[in-house]
Amino acid sequence: MRSALPFLVILLFVRSLHSGAQTMLPIPPMLLGSTIDLQLQEGTWEFHPGEIVDTYGYNGDLLGPTILLEQGQQVTLNVTNTLPDLTTTHWHGLHVAPEHDGGPHSMIMPGTTWSPSFTVLDKAATYWYHPHAHGLTDYQVTKGAAGMIIVRDAEEGALDLPRTYGVDDIPLILQTKPIMDGQIMLHTGLDTVVVTNGVRQAEITLPAQVVRLRCLNGSNERTFLLGFSNGMTFNTIATDGGLLAAPIPLTRQFLTNGERVEVLIDLSGMEGQVFDLISFGSELPNGVMGSADVSLMGVTPDAYYENDLNGADFRLLRITVGSPTTDPVIDIPSTLANLVPYQEVDATVTRDFVFAPEVMSPVGMVEGPMTINDALFDMDVINETITLGTTEIWTFTNNTAVGHPFHIHDIQFHVLDRDGLPVPSQEQGRKDVVFVPPNSTVRVITRFDDFADPEMPYMYHCHILMHEDEGMMGQFLVVDPNAVAEPAGLNNALTVWPNPSTAGIILLRATETEGLAEVIVIDATGRTAARSLLNLTQEGTSMDLSALESGLYALQLHTRHGQTRSYHARINLQH
Ligand code: C2O
Ligand code: CU
Ligand code: CU
Repeated sequence: MRSALPFLVILLFVRSLHSGAQTMLPIPPMLLGSTIDLQLQEGTWEFHPGEIVDTYGYNGDLLGPTILLEQGQQVTLNVTNTLPDLTTTHWHGLHVAPEHDGGPHSMIMPGTTWSPSFTVLDKAATYWYHPHAHGLTDYQVTKGAAGMIIVRDAEEGALDLPRTYGVDDIPLILQTKPIMDGQIMLHTGLDTVVVTNGVRQAEITLPAQVVRLRCLNGSNERTFLLGFSNGMTFNTIATDGGLLAAPIPLTRQFLTNGERVEVLIDLSGMEGQVFDLISFGSELPNGVMGSADVSLMGVTPDAYYENDLNGADFRLLRITVGSPTTDPVIDIPSTLANLVPYQEVDATVTRDFVFAPEVMSPVGMVEGPMTINDALFDMDVINETITLGTTEIWTFTNNTAVGHPFHIHDIQFHVLDRDGLPVPSQEQGRKDVVFVPPNSTVRVITRFDDFADPEMPYMYHCHILMHEDEGMMGQFLVVDPNAVAEPAGLNNALTVWPNPSTAGIILLRATETEGLAEVIVIDATGRTAARSLLNLTQEGTSMDLSALESGLYALQLHTRHGQTRSYHARINLQH
């Protein structure tokens, strides 16, 4: 027995050396210009030395290059899929037409290339890209497919901010990954491997001056509460979709799934000091994935407690302060951007979204699947139809026991309030993800500008990737009432009779279409006034709209033949 002791001591020593070993933070290569080539590919990665894990990456084994875009430029992105499965690539946060957005409908089959092309309209901020194929998002993102997008514009360019990529402007993709038996395993709840830009125990030397950290929460379900081990104050300068009006001095920054923040740290005079970027999980309120407890209903899945990271403080990055650069930024600007929030008085439509577990049970309240307005995602169902140019308030009410990071494609919004109270200053900028805590209501305001498409929808969804894949997602069309009046060839395909209608009973006939179709009736403000599932025949199918008020309505018809086809007509009700 005695002879075993020295051996044990050596083992412990080796182990502690190992866990103390740091890895240089990899800085993803940068791609810029008007043509960006991305290849989604399989790879391998050693998260722990000697353990080879199968991974996915863009142009490499894990993660992807950082794409640099200038507001106003034209860009074509060629995304080639060499994975064994279909995929898509979504430009999270960018304001692009639905056909270029890379949602679940823009499938890239194995061996093919998808090439969206658009003008960059976005404000300077940190965005990201990742796969978005329905049911496959969690798997493909957790396997490693994700990358950062940096947009620059004149407003940001006029400020004296750090912007030397990899030197004083540092991309940080923050993730925890579930790795079991040497492979990435979903739905275990055991996302215990903490990686920054893909590596554990990441370390970087930063110059003794003002440094900008672009933080992205790319985790599948964990929320971070960022802060520094030395207690230093930092300044949050940007949220998801742009700069704040002024830097917000903070010691903690909440960062939920899909969210980005840019923070400035002032390292002047700190040369030689070593400190850590930490997620203070012990301070997260219960009900947030990553907190000590999600058992608001008295039940928490066992695996949740087995995960040592839940409720714990852990390191994301070790920072050593080195010598300053020759041209350092030494001051933090006192003002940043001219923020013009949407005004509540301008909102003409309010939509309510209620989150609830599909199965009302204590376990369901925490584990899901989660529904939005009692429905799970259906690729063939358009949940909301929005009129181009409308300012709308969206209200999210969370009747589940866990918080949901809620994301809307196409637009940036402003958060009006959370349970009726104003949100903290660092959340008052442009956002595309908002955290909706359990048993709470959050209101956001936005306007749907520039892009309308009668057929191709945008998504809204929870950014906990398991929830999204399980169906906590919906889709909306943005329609241009002036354009749908004469869409190429479509009007003839759907006829409505009599029109105007005085009785409210109409006959619908869609040439070349028979069988089940969903008919959506949209009023002048863009709200869905009625919808029903009809069995279309060549003789015509009747629909009762007598309950609707008199007025002009747009009709949309979505057929259910694998691929969604949409038809449009207008009906004038006069009763
Ligand atoms: Cu980051 Cu719809 O996604
Ligand atoms: Cu998105
Ligand atoms: Cu969720």
